[in-house]
Amino acid sequence: MGRIIRWIVVGLGVVLLAASVALWMRPGGLNRATGRDGSFVVPGGVAVGGSFVLVDGSGRTVTEASWPGRWMLIYFGYTFCPDVCPTELQTMAAALDALGPLAARVVPLFITIDPERDTPAQMGEYVKLFDERLIGLSGTPQQIAAVARAYRVYYARVTPKDSTAYLMDHSSFMYLMGPDGTLRMLFRPDMSAWDLAKAIRSCLSAAS
Ligand code: NI
Repeated sequence: MGRIIRWIVVGLGVVLLAASVALWMRPGGLNRATGRDGSFVVPGGVAVGGSFVLVDGSGRTVTEASWPGRWMLIYFGYTFCPDVCPTELQTMAAALDALGPLAARVVPLFITIDPERDTPAQMGEYVKLFDERLIGLSGTPQQIAAVARAYRVYYARVTPKDSTAYLMDHSSFMYLMGPDGTLRMLFRPDMSAWDLAKAIRSCLSAAS
């Protein structure tokens, strides 16, 4: 009897959690402002982001305070990703190009959710394939778990039946953080570089 009740409680918890995440992620759900371009602003009071300690490609320890006065455009993924991550990094790079000189105010970060395979050096080399301005970050599994928790990033290891190498299942949002460290915009995957640049430009100009 006790076990059945426990399972019911666990089941209800999972359903509630899934429903709130779906609402939070779904444009037009809890989100007040949804851009037609796929960007949306999260409702006030939803804490996303925060402090982190990670390592860059040259082995230097970096935190959220490493680029004072600048915005951060953050994407979480991994270098072994067969499709979505490379596409999103290309979009990020193209958006930086479209931003022109304004891009200097934005620090583009690619943070791994696969720290077992993605060493800081590998992250540093990988991002340069897309754009010299991109910064790849890794860390210990604990450091990665902490930053993923802060940004509400979902990730899990999956091993396909026909393979010995594993893949990472992961959420694929892009985060625009203001110089004060607060979340300003969240971008869904598959956004065009043009729309991404447009949304970033509007945020930057509203702030200055
Ligand atoms: Ni990926």
